[in-house]
Amino acid sequence: MKDIIKRLTETYGPSGSESRIREQIKKEIRGLADQVSTDVLGNLIAVKKGKGSRVMVAAHMDEIGFIVTHIDKNGFLRFSNIGGIYPYNIIAQRVVFENGTIGTINEERSEKPADPRRLDRMYIDIGVKDHKEASAMVSVGDVAGFHRACEFLGNRVIAKSMDDRIGCAIMIEVMKQLKKTPNQIYFVFTTQEEVGLRGATTAAFGVAPDLGIAVDITGAFDTPEEKPKLPSVLGKGTAIKIKDAGMLAHPGVKKLLVDTARAGRIPYQFDILEGGTTDGSVITKTRSGIPTGVLSVPTRYAHSASEMVDMADVKATVDLLVKLLSSNIKTKGF
Ligand code: CO
Ligand code: ZN
Repeated sequence: MKDIIKRLTETYGPSGSESRIREQIKKEIRGLADQVSTDVLGNLIAVKKGKGSRVMVAAHMDEIGFIVTHIDKNGFLRFSNIGGIYPYNIIAQRVVFENGTIGTINEERSEKPADPRRLDRMYIDIGVKDHKEASAMVSVGDVAGFHRACEFLGNRVIAKSMDDRIGCAIMIEVMKQLKKTPNQIYFVFTTQEEVGLRGATTAAFGVAPDLGIAVDITGAFDTPEEKPKLPSVLGKGTAIKIKDAGMLAHPGVKKLLVDTARAGRIPYQFDILEGGTTDGSVITKTRSGIPTGVLSVPTRYAHSASEMVDMADVKATVDLLVKLLSSNIKTKGF
C-alpha cells in the first residue's frame, strides 16, 4: 500500500485539472472492478456488482493548487488560489504545472511585510528572465500544485495532497481486499472537492445510492500548544464522523460504523470538526436524502505541502470498510 500512497500523492491533480491523477488511479484499479466509467465532471466511478444495497464510497482525487492570473514583464507569475490555500504555508514552496514547469513561491520585498501574509503580494518564480520566456511555458489560467516527494518516517507518512489521496489509496486497497460483496458498490474518485464538493454532487445524483460513505482526512489535535478540545489524534484509529461544518452524520450510519468497528476489534475514534467538510455533506443532501457517514484519517498540517498521517489509522480505515462492505447492508429502518 505504501507504493500506491507514494504514487498517488506525487501525482499532479489540482481541482479541475484531474486528468493525470484520474489516469493514474485507472491504472491502479485495473481488474479490480466490474465496470469503470468517467462522468461529465470527471469523476471516476468503479462498480463492484452485487444484488443488495447500492453503496457509494467516495474519496476526492483533486488537491489544492494555484492558478495563474497575470504574467509580468519580468516573467513573474501572479496567482490566485484553487481551494483552501493558507498564505503562511506557501512561502518558498515549490510548485509544478501540468506540463512539468517548476516554480517557487515568494512574496514582494517590502519595508513592512504584510501581516497576515497575502496571496496578492506573492508570485511564482519559474526561473525565466522576461515575459516572453515565461509565456512560452505558462499561460494565464494554467494551474500548479505543490511539488513535493512523499516520505515514510517509520509508521507515519508526510506528503502533499494526502488530502485526499490517502482516501483514494484506502479505496483502492479496499477494492483489492474485497473479494465478494452482497452489495452493489460504487467507488467514486471525485473531482473538485476542494473548490466546493462539485464532483460528489453530480456523482451522488447519478448513482442514487441507498447509503453513502465518504473517506477523507480530518484534523489531528495533538500538536504542541494545541489544547486537545477536539477528539481526533494521530494513531488512535479510524475517525468516525459525528459532525463538521457541512453535516451531522446520519445516526444510523454512525451506529453501523461503530458497531462494525467494535465487532471487528478495529481501533476507532470520533471526528468532530468546527470548520471544513467532506463529500459526505453533499451526498447526504442528494435527491430526497441519503443516509451518509464519513470515515476520516486524522491528518496534521492539512492543506500544506507536508500533510502527515499515521499508517495505523489508514489500516484501521481499510479494515472497517472491508468488513462493512462484505456484510449484507440493510438501510431500511435507519
Ligand atoms: Co481539503
Ligand atoms: Zn479532503
